[in-house]
Amino acid sequence: MHFTYGLAALAGLAQAWPATSKHSLAPRSTSFFDSETGFTFSETKAAATLSSSIIYRIAQPSNVQYGQPYDVVIQVVAPNSLGWVGLAWGGSMVRNPLTVAYPNGQRPTVSSRWATGHYTPGQYSGATYTPLSTGNRSNGTHWQYTVKCTGCTTWSNNFGGITWVDPNGGKRFGFAASASRVSNPSSTSATIPVHDVYNYISHSFSGGANQDFDALLARNGVSSTAEAGNTSKKL
Ligand code: HEM
Ligand SMILES: *[C@@H]1O[C@H](CO)[C@@H](O)[C@H](O)[C@H]1NC(C)=O
Ligand SMILES: *[C@@H]1O[C@H](CO)[C@@H](O)[C@H](O)[C@H]1NC(C)=O
Ligand SMILES: *[C@@H]1O[C@H](CO)[C@@H](O)[C@H](O)[C@H]1NC(C)=O
Repeated sequence: MHFTYGLAALAGLAQAWPATSKHSLAPRSTSFFDSETGFTFSETKAAATLSSSIIYRIAQPSNVQYGQPYDVVIQVVAPNSLGWVGLAWGGSMVRNPLTVAYPNGQRPTVSSRWATGHYTPGQYSGATYTPLSTGNRSNGTHWQYTVKCTGCTTWSNNFGGITWVDPNGGKRFGFAASASRVSNPSSTSATIPVHDVYNYISHSFSGGANQDFDALLARNGVSSTAEAGNTSKKL
């Protein structure tokens, strides 16, 4: 994995360029219809090694404006070579919701984390994950999970304000992964070994809007929290 360390270092250099740099990649994703759950996801592939990728998929309700809370359905496909994979919703490791997952039989464990520094993140109660009744598996090559997240798309940020992820726009996420496995993968509070690689994806939400979001959740055994459009929700 030495070359992926190199990629991360290059990303670090790119980050040092002015924010207005024309070299920034525009957010892009493809749209993916998952016949198993019925959700339509926006999808970005994140290079984990030279020969394998983590697939990050996000589905959101179609009727949400920027600045309103909303749930998402997250589907992640990871190669078996990886012992955990994580998504950083704010684009860096520190002070934003971290969606961390590790293989655990047929149903990977998804753990809610939050880091206050560049050391092992703690549990984060501001985001909750509910597994769908389908969309989870592990086979000879990959492991996959599908969960609803409440609390991934808005949080109290470092500057005393609130960050909203725009469901109609794009977002630069951070991701991280390790080849090392956790020792007690059925636990959401398992100790996770540090990443072998981290990098960034620029994800567009445009391909993942679902008009029948709540009905699709119900079809997959999950009740909606009727959060979308609820501007009185407290953070
Ligand atoms: C398990 C314990 C962990 C330790 C000890 C750790 C440590 C670190 C360190 C030292 C860096 C800075 C590397 C550098 O500047 O060269 C870093 C960066 C990063 N880590 Fe972690 N990490 C851990 C878990 C995680 C998790 C669970 C995620 C979830 C996505 C994550 C995401 C990132 C990202 C995106 C970066 C690059 C952006 C940034 O520097 O904030 N890390 N980590
Ligand atoms: C996960 O996968 C197994 C086997 O494919 C399936 O029986 C189960 O219903 C799935 N869902 C959950 C939430 O475990
Ligand atoms: C294994 O699971 C992955 C991820 O869901 C899937 O893309 C792949 O087709 C599966 N392979 C087999 C042989 O079923
Ligand atoms: C909106 O959020 C508030 C505060 O969390 C909650 O009390 C209320 O039940 C929510 N309304 C709906 C329709 O979900």
